Amino acid sequence: MLEKIEIDLLIKNAKELLTLSSSFKDESGLGIIPNGAVAVKEGRIFWIGKTGELPKDFVLSSEGQVIDARGKVVMPGLIDSHTHLIFAGSRENEFEQRIEGHTYLEIAGRGGGILSTVEATRKASFEELLFLGKRRLDRLLSKGVTTIEAKSGYGLSLEDELKILRVMKALQEDHSVDIVPTFLGAHTIPKEFKNERRRYMDLLTQEMIPEVAGEGLAEFCDVFCEEKAFHLEESREILETGKRYGLKPKIHADQVSPGGGAELAAEVGAYSADHLEYISRQGIERMAEQGVTAVLLPGASFFLSMKKYPPAREMIEKGVAVALSTDLNPGSSMTESLPLMMTMGCLFFRMTPKEVIQATTTYAARSMGREKEIGSLDTGKKADLIMLDIPNYRYLPYHFGVDHVEVVIKNGEIVYKNQ
Ligand code: NIG
Ligand code: FE
Repeated sequence: MLEKIEIDLLIKNAKELLTLSSSFKDESGLGIIPNGAVAVKEGRIFWIGKTGELPKDFVLSSEGQVIDARGKVVMPGLIDSHTHLIFAGSRENEFEQRIEGHTYLEIAGRGGGILSTVEATRKASFEELLFLGKRRLDRLLSKGVTTIEAKSGYGLSLEDELKILRVMKALQEDHSVDIVPTFLGAHTIPKEFKNERRRYMDLLTQEMIPEVAGEGLAEFCDVFCEEKAFHLEESREILETGKRYGLKPKIHADQVSPGGGAELAAEVGAYSADHLEYISRQGIERMAEQGVTAVLLPGASFFLSMKKYPPAREMIEKGVAVALSTDLNPGSSMTESLPLMMTMGCLFFRMTPKEVIQATTTYAARSMGREKEIGSLDTGKKADLIMLDIPNYRYLPYHFGVDHVEVVIKNGEIVYKNQ
């Protein structure tokens, strides 16, 4: 008699099972298994293949569940690789001012912008930020997101940056969405250091980075490298200091003006360079050579009515891995919808449906060094999966602004269901 193998979850009959794995080569490039099935054991993918080829010796464990995905698409949980998750307050007043013709930089120059959110976030208690963060994570989850990267950067003092990062840690322990934390103390110069940039640099490099790294509160260190924020030399110093303390580099680069940010990303070995509206040709080449992932943020272009888009096609053609993300933040992209970013990626950046799916799974995972664990479906990988009520993968960016996610599975457990 056959020895039985207990599994905890079985998804079967998926019309299209998108594996995003090179183990399943097909014409689409997404590794699609038609009429696919996934068996999950102890939070990991135990078996994956055609429903008709499911091994006969599988039995469900006592609490085990079966999901019939007939007519639906099943794919890896989405990964939002660039968010500013923790902030207090909101800036609908600036939204209205921008509609009336004032610019983002002009509003920031008057003390609005990032600094107004810094003020609100400094005033907020740990509990308030925890509450706000949880609500945002719930919304992300309902859009199919199972892992996010989250940046600090609305504290800009040792105490407030630590508060934000500790909120993330508490959320991580409490919520099913995985959070990869990034220290962004170099988001802008806080107003009390307005005329003393060097002193803020010292605070960042001598106090904040050592403390954040020492407490194990961040995995990455990011910097907003821009004429109006941190200059190239300063950005290099911050990222190199972060590296010495074990924080991996990331960078907000070439968003408002060309500044050599992409070249710096390649030089310091950044995991990603993000935004890149004004990236230079050389920047693209350097990123391709060094394997730096580009994280593009169409929500920010849309929300700021920027007509200048990053040259996504050129990057892809030169071999840069392109990820797409929400940039969730109260000033330049107030949204938790990654599927909406996929539609924008297609229409603004001329990325194909296949490319926007890769951009929110495999390449998003790569932008944070998690590609061995998440972003694709293979035996042994994390069982982070979503089931979508759509007939094929191209339909996802096509039918925009509505929810197609029916079930979200995190570490093998059903954590969200849209009835
Ligand atoms: O990623 N670029 C810098 N930071 C944010 C905007 C932050 C804000 O306006 O509050 C961004 O777009
Ligand atoms: Fe950002």
